[in-house]
Amino acid sequence: VDRRHLQGVFQSRFIRMTFPDPGRLVELACQSLLTDEAMAIAALESLPVELFPPLFVAAFAGRHSKTLKVMVQAWPFPCLPMGALMKEQQPYHDTIQAALDGLDVLLSQAVRPRRWKLQVLDLQKNVHQDFWTVWSGTKSSMCSLLEPELAQPRKKRQRVDGSGARVKPPSASMEVFIDLSLKEGTPDKSVSYLIKKIRQKRGLLRLCCQKLKISSVSMQNIRILKMVQLDSVQDLEVNCTWKLSALEKFTPYLGQMGNLHRLLLSHIHMSSHITLEQEEQCVSQFTSQFLSLLHLQELGLDSVAFLQGHLDQLLRCLKTPLETLAITNCLLSGVDLMHLSQRLNVSQLKDLSLTGVNLTSVSSEPLQVLLERASATLQDLDLDECGIMDHELTAIMPILSRCSQLTTFSFCGNPISVAVLEDLLRHTIGLSKLSHVLYPTPLESYQDVHGNPHVGVLAQVHARLRQMLQELGRPNVIWFSASRCADCGDRTFYDPDPILCPCYMSV
Ligand SMILES: *[C@@H]1O[C@H](CO)[C@@H](O)[C@H](O)[C@H]1NC(C)=O
Ligand SMILES: *[C@@H]1O[C@H](CO)[C@@H](O)[C@H](O)[C@H]1NC(C)=O
Ligand SMILES: *[C@@H]1O[C@H](CO)[C@@H](O)[C@H](O)[C@H]1NC(C)=O
Repeated sequence: VDRRHLQGVFQSRFIRMTFPDPGRLVELACQSLLTDEAMAIAALESLPVELFPPLFVAAFAGRHSKTLKVMVQAWPFPCLPMGALMKEQQPYHDTIQAALDGLDVLLSQAVRPRRWKLQVLDLQKNVHQDFWTVWSGTKSSMCSLLEPELAQPRKKRQRVDGSGARVKPPSASMEVFIDLSLKEGTPDKSVSYLIKKIRQKRGLLRLCCQKLKISSVSMQNIRILKMVQLDSVQDLEVNCTWKLSALEKFTPYLGQMGNLHRLLLSHIHMSSHITLEQEEQCVSQFTSQFLSLLHLQELGLDSVAFLQGHLDQLLRCLKTPLETLAITNCLLSGVDLMHLSQRLNVSQLKDLSLTGVNLTSVSSEPLQVLLERASATLQDLDLDECGIMDHELTAIMPILSRCSQLTTFSFCGNPISVAVLEDLLRHTIGLSKLSHVLYPTPLESYQDVHGNPHVGVLAQVHARLRQMLQELGRPNVIWFSASRCADCGDRTFYDPDPILCPCYMSV
């Protein structure tokens, strides 16, 4: 064996051993630094900027609270996206508390520290993931992360309160971003701690929340919203089984959420002991809040009892063209539907759902008008369980055939015959973007007294539709059927063979 060859092998090994990849080297250095927290903290003063992220990741993973607290104070970027490091279903109270204590120390200092860059502590999960991946790899995108824009996830609303003299420069205050989910019972430990800090540092520390979920919360707990910068809320879900009188107390908060993009409101009941006059007042107060929602794109109203007779009022207060409108499981009158068809600004409407709105006894004309107006943009149409029968579906077919952007159409749970299904297939065959049609179990296949469909008949219908799609040159369009089991309410799908619910199997 050649001696020089051996030497070469040895050298290349040696080099590999001595210089592992730089990322790993940094990781090892951080871990060794953290074995002595006092040393780690002392080193921060002279630590190069690019070593902060890997050291923070190591300190976070090892839950070195003391180091984290000091690192927050010395953080050399405008934003610290700590939430991106958190995994689902794991407690992070100690680390969150350490970070908040770090902010507290910063805000308590009389003299502004030389290296104070931090403006935002972001505790939202699943945002800014790229911050950490960029810093753990190459530094190619470093510049973009040093831009202050990263720390400005939303437009700041100008405060006009006349107290100009006391207003501190904007960099003196800091923001904490968190996804809030308000539920029944005492709030989560970290949220309570955060609220306590916000109270103590009033005005200096601001609680921002882009995604807010409120479910089964008493009016007592709703007052926590006073602590939140409501103009930071972009996505709101309210599902509380409230009576109208409870909604009235929530109403003023809604009007302050001027940057709301998506609102989902479900389960609002009528109050039994209020007069008609009070009811009108509550509804008109609620609907008038929409005048301030100048960025609303998605609106979902599910089981909202007061809508009947008031839809016009709501539509008049909508200031933006919606992309998504879902009015589901609500009672609507013919007049409501007429207003909807005429008043709704459909210029951006992509998704429309009227699932669970009984259209049996109303004229199909408003629906035709609405679809006609939205035909240039509509992508997703949902008319499940609307009590639509053959003649209504037939009436909207010519309009559906002009909805050139339509990708999915669902109309399960409506009593439709096989002949009309086939007719619909012919009418929609020219829609080049249509890829999914979810159709109801046709009338002919209902056999047994429990209202469960006959599987054999359904399979025949399905085969026939598939054959038609093949013949008409659109074999890739998926038509599948779904029906609700009369016993358990679960949906049974036929695609192409039935996927049955357990109670059907046991028959
Ligand atoms: C609202 O809450 C009820 C029960 O509290 C739940 O069944 C339902 O799925 C929720 N709806 C939404 C839209 O989250
Ligand atoms: C619908 O909204 C768009 C965009 O805001 C606006 O330009 C248009 O005038 C509105 N249409 C109607 C009928 O109000
Ligand atoms: C829909 O309304 C009609 C009459 O208005 C009624 O007969 C029917 O039972 C209703 N359907 C549902 C599912 O509630």
